[in-house]
Amino acid sequence: MKVLAFGTSNSRNSINQKLARYSAAQIDDADVTLLDIHDLEMPIFSEEREKESGIPAFAHDFYQAIGEADAIVISFAEYNGSYTSAYKNLFDWASRIDMKVYQDKPMIMLSTSPGPSGAQSVLAAAEGSAPFFAADVKGALSLPNFFDNFDVETGVVTDETFNQKLNQAISAL
Ligand SMILES: Cc1cc2nc3c(=O)[nH]c(=O)nc-3n(C[C@H](O)[C@H](O)[C@H](O)COP(=O)(O)O)c2cc1C
Repeated sequence: MKVLAFGTSNSRNSINQKLARYSAAQIDDADVTLLDIHDLEMPIFSEEREKESGIPAFAHDFYQAIGEADAIVISFAEYNGSYTSAYKNLFDWASRIDMKVYQDKPMIMLSTSPGPSGAQSVLAAAEGSAPFFAADVKGALSLPNFFDNFDVETGVVTDETFNQKLNQAISAL
């Protein structure tokens, strides 16, 4: 199974990137591609820019990477209760290629933050809007209090409840 995994943050030390990497690695026999959305940074979307210059190649790269995967693992970082500007911009550009950005791929949606909410607001927004963007969500789970529940030395989630739910979601892929 070809798995595309990424965090939706452009932080160089993203905890969501760590969670996406760990979670994808739990999928047996997966060929995992870890995408760094840093590498796909584009000008802020505007309809005028699109008319003048078209859709940037990085948006096509992102859309194609999803299309080539058999399954997707995304971990959503939350800024002020919502998406990071980095992911929103990437997603907005990609949605101009095809509103069905997720192309009916089975996916696991995750989120984490250092606080007790575990970025549940953005996760709920992503899960709630999934049908509009052709995301076949097999599981949506949040890891609260990241630094209490993730061993940064080994890159492993230590919260067994999360791990059980993750395994359930993986078996539904
Ligand atoms: C501008 C800004 C807004 C934030 N808003 C939230 C928030 O609404 N909810 C939350 O749980 N964490 C919030 N945080 C803390 C982030 O969860 C934390 O920075 C986390 O490390 C971001 O994920 P990342 O490491 O994958 O980038 C915010 C951080 C920043 C810089």
